[in-house]
Amino acid sequence: MENQDKTCHNLTRRQMMIGATGVLAAGTALTQFGGLLKSAHAVGGPTEKWPWSYEKLDPAKTAEIAYEEWYRVFCGAAVINSVFSQLRAKVGEPYTSFPVDSFVFLEGGMVGWGMTCGSNAGAAIVANLIIGPRIAGGTEGHQISEDIFQWYSEASMPIFVPKTPKVTTKLVRTTAESPLCHVSVGKWMKASGYPIGSAERKDRCARVAASVAFHLVELLNDWKDGKYKHAATHKPVKEYGITAQMNCMECHGNDVPTPPMAKK
Ligand code: HEC
Repeated sequence: MENQDKTCHNLTRRQMMIGATGVLAAGTALTQFGGLLKSAHAVGGPTEKWPWSYEKLDPAKTAEIAYEEWYRVFCGAAVINSVFSQLRAKVGEPYTSFPVDSFVFLEGGMVGWGMTCGSNAGAAIVANLIIGPRIAGGTEGHQISEDIFQWYSEASMPIFVPKTPKVTTKLVRTTAESPLCHVSVGKWMKASGYPIGSAERKDRCARVAASVAFHLVELLNDWKDGKYKHAATHKPVKEYGITAQMNCMECHGNDVPTPPMAKK
Protein backbone atom coordinates (compact mmCIF):
# COMPACT_ATOMS: atom_id res chain seq x y z
CA MET A 1 0.00 0.00 0.00
CA GLU A 2 2.77 2.35 1.02
CA ASN A 3 4.66 1.64 -2.18
CA GLN A 4 1.55 2.21 -4.23
CA ASP A 5 1.00 5.59 -2.59
CA LYS A 6 4.56 6.50 -3.32
CA THR A 7 4.14 5.62 -6.98
CA CYS A 8 0.96 7.63 -7.21
CA HIS A 9 2.67 10.55 -5.57
CA ASN A 10 5.60 10.33 -7.97
CA LEU A 11 3.27 10.11 -10.90
CA THR A 12 1.49 13.24 -9.82
CA ARG A 13 4.78 15.03 -9.48
CA ARG A 14 5.77 13.85 -12.93
CA GLN A 15 2.51 14.99 -14.37
CA MET A 16 2.92 18.37 -12.73
CA MET A 17 6.30 18.67 -14.34
CA ILE A 18 4.85 17.60 -17.65
CA GLY A 19 2.31 20.36 -17.30
CA ALA A 20 5.20 22.80 -17.04
CA THR A 21 6.87 21.77 -20.31
CA GLY A 22 7.20 25.37 -21.41
CA VAL A 23 9.21 26.22 -18.33
CA LEU A 24 11.35 23.12 -18.69
CA ALA A 25 12.04 23.74 -22.35
CA ALA A 26 13.18 27.27 -21.60
CA GLY A 27 15.31 26.24 -18.62
CA THR A 28 18.62 24.46 -18.20
CA ALA A 29 16.78 21.31 -17.22
CA LEU A 30 16.17 20.61 -20.88
CA THR A 31 18.89 17.96 -21.27
CA GLN A 32 18.02 16.28 -18.03
CA PHE A 33 14.33 16.18 -18.85
CA GLY A 34 14.72 15.56 -22.56
CA GLY A 35 13.27 12.07 -22.28
CA LEU A 36 10.55 13.26 -20.01
CA LEU A 37 9.50 15.93 -22.46
CA LYS A 38 9.22 13.36 -25.16
CA SER A 39 6.97 11.17 -23.06
CA ALA A 40 5.14 14.25 -21.88
CA HIS A 41 4.09 14.80 -25.45
CA ALA A 42 2.79 11.23 -25.62
CA VAL A 43 0.80 11.68 -22.40
CA GLY A 44 -1.21 14.52 -23.91
CA GLY A 45 -1.55 12.59 -27.16
CA PRO A 46 -1.22 13.88 -30.69
CA THR A 47 -4.83 15.07 -30.71
CA GLU A 48 -4.36 16.89 -34.00
CA LYS A 49 -4.10 13.44 -35.58
CA TRP A 50 -7.14 11.97 -33.91
CA PRO A 51 -9.94 11.22 -34.86
CA TRP A 52 -9.02 9.57 -38.16
CA SER A 53 -10.90 10.16 -41.40
CA TYR A 54 -13.38 7.62 -42.61
CA GLU A 55 -14.67 6.68 -46.04
CA LYS A 56 -17.82 4.60 -46.30
CA LEU A 57 -17.23 0.89 -46.79
CA ASP A 58 -19.23 -2.07 -48.01
CA PRO A 59 -20.42 -4.07 -44.96
CA ALA A 60 -20.50 -7.44 -46.78
CA LYS A 61 -17.02 -6.97 -48.23
CA THR A 62 -15.74 -5.95 -44.79
CA ALA A 63 -17.31 -9.04 -43.24
CA GLU A 64 -15.63 -11.30 -45.81
CA ILE A 65 -12.25 -9.75 -44.95
CA ALA A 66 -12.91 -10.21 -41.22
CA TYR A 67 -13.83 -13.84 -41.79
CA GLU A 68 -10.58 -14.56 -43.65
CA GLU A 69 -8.50 -12.51 -41.23
CA TRP A 70 -9.83 -14.47 -38.26
CA TYR A 71 -7.83 -17.44 -39.49
CA ARG A 72 -4.68 -15.30 -39.42
CA VAL A 73 -5.01 -13.05 -36.35
CA PHE A 74 -8.25 -14.09 -34.60
CA CYS A 75 -11.29 -12.02 -33.68
CA GLY A 76 -10.10 -8.61 -32.43
CA ALA A 77 -7.37 -7.91 -34.96
CA ALA A 78 -9.59 -9.41 -37.69
CA VAL A 79 -12.34 -6.86 -37.03
CA ILE A 80 -9.84 -4.00 -36.85
CA ASN A 81 -8.07 -5.03 -40.03
CA SER A 82 -11.30 -5.66 -41.95
CA VAL A 83 -11.91 -1.91 -41.68
CA PHE A 84 -8.37 -0.54 -41.56
CA SER A 85 -6.97 -2.54 -44.49
CA GLN A 86 -9.58 -0.87 -46.69
CA LEU A 87 -8.95 2.57 -45.20
CA ARG A 88 -5.22 2.12 -45.78
CA ALA A 89 -6.06 2.01 -49.48
CA LYS A 90 -8.71 4.75 -49.42
CA VAL A 91 -7.23 7.17 -46.87
CA GLY A 92 -3.58 6.19 -46.28
CA GLU A 93 -2.04 7.54 -43.09
CA PRO A 94 -2.41 7.05 -40.16
CA TYR A 95 -3.96 3.70 -41.11
CA THR A 96 -0.83 2.75 -43.05
CA SER A 97 1.36 2.91 -39.94
CA PHE A 98 -1.14 1.42 -37.50
CA PRO A 99 0.13 -1.95 -36.25
CA VAL A 100 -3.13 -3.88 -36.46
CA ASP A 101 -1.50 -7.21 -35.70
CA SER A 102 -0.49 -6.02 -32.23
CA PHE A 103 -4.16 -6.52 -31.35
CA VAL A 104 -3.91 -10.25 -31.79
CA PHE A 105 -3.91 -10.36 -27.97
CA LEU A 106 -7.67 -9.69 -28.04
CA GLU A 107 -8.17 -13.34 -29.03
CA GLY A 108 -10.29 -15.47 -26.69
CA GLY A 109 -11.54 -12.44 -24.76
CA MET A 110 -7.94 -11.22 -24.36
CA VAL A 111 -5.21 -13.86 -24.36
CA GLY A 112 -7.75 -16.57 -23.67
CA TRP A 113 -9.15 -15.09 -20.45
CA GLY A 114 -12.71 -15.04 -21.80
CA MET A 115 -13.32 -11.38 -21.06
CA THR A 116 -14.91 -9.07 -23.64
CA CYS A 117 -15.22 -10.90 -26.98
CA GLY A 118 -12.33 -9.64 -29.13
CA SER A 119 -14.75 -8.80 -31.93
CA ASN A 120 -16.47 -6.34 -29.62
CA ALA A 121 -13.21 -4.91 -28.33
CA GLY A 122 -11.87 -4.58 -31.88
CA ALA A 123 -15.04 -2.79 -32.98
CA ALA A 124 -14.76 -0.38 -30.04
CA ILE A 125 -11.14 0.41 -30.95
CA VAL A 126 -12.14 1.14 -34.56
CA ALA A 127 -15.12 3.30 -33.58
CA ASN A 128 -13.10 5.33 -31.10
CA LEU A 129 -10.17 5.91 -33.44
CA ILE A 130 -12.51 7.04 -36.21
CA ILE A 131 -14.95 9.08 -34.17
CA GLY A 132 -12.76 10.53 -31.48
CA PRO A 133 -12.53 11.18 -27.79
CA ARG A 134 -15.57 11.03 -25.57
CA ILE A 135 -14.49 14.20 -23.79
CA ALA A 136 -14.42 16.47 -26.84
CA GLY A 137 -18.11 16.27 -27.62
CA GLY A 138 -17.51 13.31 -29.90
CA THR A 139 -19.58 10.88 -27.91
CA GLU A 140 -20.53 8.67 -30.82
CA GLY A 141 -17.43 6.47 -30.64
CA HIS A 142 -18.45 5.65 -27.09
CA GLN A 143 -22.07 5.17 -28.14
CA ILE A 144 -21.24 2.92 -31.09
CA SER A 145 -19.18 0.73 -28.76
CA GLU A 146 -22.19 0.42 -26.46
CA ASP A 147 -24.49 -0.29 -29.39
CA ILE A 148 -22.19 -3.06 -30.58
CA PHE A 149 -22.04 -4.64 -27.09
CA GLN A 150 -25.81 -4.62 -26.71
CA TRP A 151 -26.52 -5.72 -30.26
CA TYR A 152 -23.99 -8.54 -29.90
CA SER A 153 -25.57 -9.66 -26.61
CA GLU A 154 -29.03 -9.87 -28.16
CA ALA A 155 -28.09 -11.26 -31.59
CA SER A 156 -28.53 -14.86 -32.63
CA MET A 157 -24.91 -15.58 -33.55
CA PRO A 158 -23.30 -16.18 -35.93
CA ILE A 159 -25.36 -14.11 -38.38
CA PHE A 160 -22.97 -13.74 -41.29
CA VAL A 161 -22.47 -16.64 -43.67
CA PRO A 162 -19.32 -16.24 -45.81
CA LYS A 163 -19.39 -16.88 -49.56
CA THR A 164 -17.01 -19.80 -49.27
CA PRO A 165 -17.18 -21.11 -45.70
CA LYS A 166 -14.23 -23.16 -44.49
CA VAL A 167 -16.67 -25.35 -42.58
CA THR A 168 -19.80 -26.46 -44.41
CA THR A 169 -21.59 -28.06 -41.46
CA LYS A 170 -24.69 -26.09 -40.52
CA LEU A 171 -23.77 -24.12 -37.40
CA VAL A 172 -26.36 -23.60 -34.67
CA ARG A 173 -26.99 -20.04 -33.58
CA THR A 174 -27.14 -18.90 -29.97
CA THR A 175 -27.83 -15.69 -28.10
CA ALA A 176 -25.12 -14.82 -25.58
CA GLU A 177 -27.03 -12.24 -23.49
CA SER A 178 -23.54 -10.91 -22.86
CA PRO A 179 -20.63 -9.27 -24.69
CA LEU A 180 -18.23 -11.62 -22.90
CA CYS A 181 -16.23 -14.21 -24.84
CA HIS A 182 -16.57 -16.84 -22.12
CA VAL A 183 -20.37 -16.59 -21.99
CA SER A 184 -20.80 -16.29 -25.75
CA VAL A 185 -18.55 -19.23 -26.63
CA GLY A 186 -19.78 -21.30 -23.66
CA LYS A 187 -23.44 -21.04 -24.61
CA TRP A 188 -22.65 -21.88 -28.20
CA MET A 189 -20.57 -24.93 -27.23
CA LYS A 190 -23.34 -26.16 -24.95
CA ALA A 191 -25.99 -25.81 -27.68
CA SER A 192 -23.85 -27.24 -30.48
CA GLY A 193 -21.92 -29.89 -28.61
CA TYR A 194 -18.67 -28.86 -30.33
CA PRO A 195 -15.58 -28.34 -28.15
CA ILE A 196 -13.33 -25.28 -28.16
CA GLY A 197 -10.69 -26.86 -30.42
CA SER A 198 -13.15 -27.98 -33.12
CA ALA A 199 -13.17 -26.59 -36.66
CA GLU A 200 -16.85 -25.75 -36.13
CA ARG A 201 -16.21 -23.59 -33.04
CA LYS A 202 -13.41 -21.78 -34.85
CA ASP A 203 -15.58 -21.11 -37.87
CA ARG A 204 -18.39 -19.98 -35.58
CA CYS A 205 -16.05 -17.39 -34.05
CA ALA A 206 -14.74 -16.32 -37.48
CA ARG A 207 -18.35 -15.74 -38.51
CA VAL A 208 -19.07 -13.85 -35.30
CA ALA A 209 -16.11 -11.55 -36.07
CA ALA A 210 -17.50 -11.11 -39.59
CA SER A 211 -20.99 -10.37 -38.22
CA VAL A 212 -19.59 -7.70 -35.89
CA ALA A 213 -17.48 -6.14 -38.67
CA PHE A 214 -20.61 -6.01 -40.86
CA HIS A 215 -22.67 -4.23 -38.23
CA LEU A 216 -19.83 -1.92 -37.24
CA VAL A 217 -19.52 -0.66 -40.82
CA GLU A 218 -23.30 -0.20 -41.02
CA LEU A 219 -23.08 2.05 -37.95
CA LEU A 220 -20.00 3.92 -39.21
CA ASN A 221 -21.65 4.50 -42.58
CA ASP A 222 -24.75 5.88 -40.87
CA TRP A 223 -22.54 8.11 -38.74
CA LYS A 224 -20.70 9.35 -41.86
CA ASP A 225 -24.08 10.18 -43.44
CA GLY A 226 -25.22 11.99 -40.27
CA LYS A 227 -27.95 9.37 -39.82
CA TYR A 228 -26.51 7.56 -36.80
CA LYS A 229 -28.85 7.06 -33.86
CA HIS A 230 -27.69 5.68 -30.53
CA ALA A 231 -29.55 2.41 -29.95
CA ALA A 232 -28.12 0.95 -26.73
CA THR A 233 -30.17 1.37 -23.58
CA HIS A 234 -27.38 0.76 -21.08
CA LYS A 235 -28.00 2.88 -18.00
CA PRO A 236 -25.30 5.08 -16.49
CA VAL A 237 -22.95 3.33 -14.05
CA LYS A 238 -24.15 5.48 -11.14
CA GLU A 239 -27.65 4.01 -11.43
CA TYR A 240 -26.31 0.58 -10.44
CA GLY A 241 -23.42 1.75 -8.29
CA ILE A 242 -21.16 -0.73 -10.11
CA THR A 243 -19.84 -1.15 -13.62
CA ALA A 244 -21.96 -3.88 -15.16
CA GLN A 245 -23.85 -5.29 -18.05
CA MET A 246 -27.51 -4.69 -17.34
CA ASN A 247 -28.93 -8.20 -17.09
CA CYS A 248 -27.89 -8.63 -13.45
CA MET A 249 -30.12 -11.68 -12.90
CA GLU A 250 -28.48 -13.64 -15.71
CA CYS A 251 -25.53 -14.23 -13.36
CA HIS A 252 -26.88 -13.39 -9.89
CA GLY A 253 -30.30 -15.02 -10.19
CA ASN A 254 -32.88 -13.52 -7.84
CA ASP A 255 -30.22 -12.46 -5.38
CA VAL A 256 -28.65 -9.41 -7.03
CA PRO A 257 -26.24 -7.84 -4.51
CA THR A 258 -26.57 -4.17 -3.72
CA PRO A 259 -23.35 -2.21 -4.26
CA PRO A 260 -22.06 -0.70 -0.95
CA MET A 261 -22.59 2.92 -2.04
CA ALA A 262 -26.27 2.32 -2.64
CA LYS A 263 -26.88 0.68 0.75
CA LYS A 264 -29.04 2.67 3.15
C1 HEC B 1 -21.76 -11.66 -16.38
C2 HEC B 1 -22.24 -11.99 -15.08
C3 HEC B 1 -22.67 -10.87 -14.16
C4 HEC B 1 -23.57 -9.89 -14.41
C5 HEC B 1 -24.40 -9.70 -15.67
C6 HEC B 1 -23.63 -9.07 -13.25
N1 HEC B 1 -22.79 -9.54 -12.28
FE1 HEC B 1 -22.46 -8.73 -10.46
N2 HEC B 1 -21.01 -10.08 -10.14
C7 HEC B 1 -20.73 -11.17 -10.92
C8 HEC B 1 -19.74 -11.99 -10.26
C9 HEC B 1 -19.19 -13.31 -10.81
C10 HEC B 1 -19.43 -11.35 -9.08
C11 HEC B 1 -18.45 -11.80 -8.01
C12 HEC B 1 -19.05 -12.89 -7.19
C13 HEC B 1 -20.14 -12.45 -6.29
O1 HEC B 1 -19.88 -11.78 -5.29
O2 HEC B 1 -21.32 -12.80 -6.58
C14 HEC B 1 -20.24 -10.13 -9.03
C15 HEC B 1 -20.21 -9.19 -8.01
C16 HEC B 1 -21.10 -8.16 -7.85
C17 HEC B 1 -21.11 -7.25 -6.73
C18 HEC B 1 -20.10 -7.17 -5.62
C19 HEC B 1 -20.18 -8.34 -4.71
C20 HEC B 1 -21.33 -8.29 -3.74
O3 HEC B 1 -21.80 -9.38 -3.37
O4 HEC B 1 -21.74 -7.18 -3.34
C21 HEC B 1 -22.18 -6.43 -6.90
C22 HEC B 1 -22.61 -5.30 -5.99
C23 HEC B 1 -22.81 -6.82 -8.13
N3 HEC B 1 -22.14 -7.86 -8.69
C24 HEC B 1 -23.95 -6.23 -8.63
C25 HEC B 1 -24.41 -6.44 -9.92
C26 HEC B 1 -25.47 -5.66 -10.53
C27 HEC B 1 -26.27 -4.57 -9.86
C28 HEC B 1 -25.60 -6.14 -11.81
C29 HEC B 1 -26.50 -5.60 -12.90
C30 HEC B 1 -26.47 -4.18 -13.13
C31 HEC B 1 -24.63 -7.22 -11.97
N4 HEC B 1 -23.94 -7.38 -10.80
C32 HEC B 1 -24.47 -7.95 -13.12
C33 HEC B 1 -21.28 -11.45 -12.14
C34 HEC B 1 -22.18 -10.65 -12.81
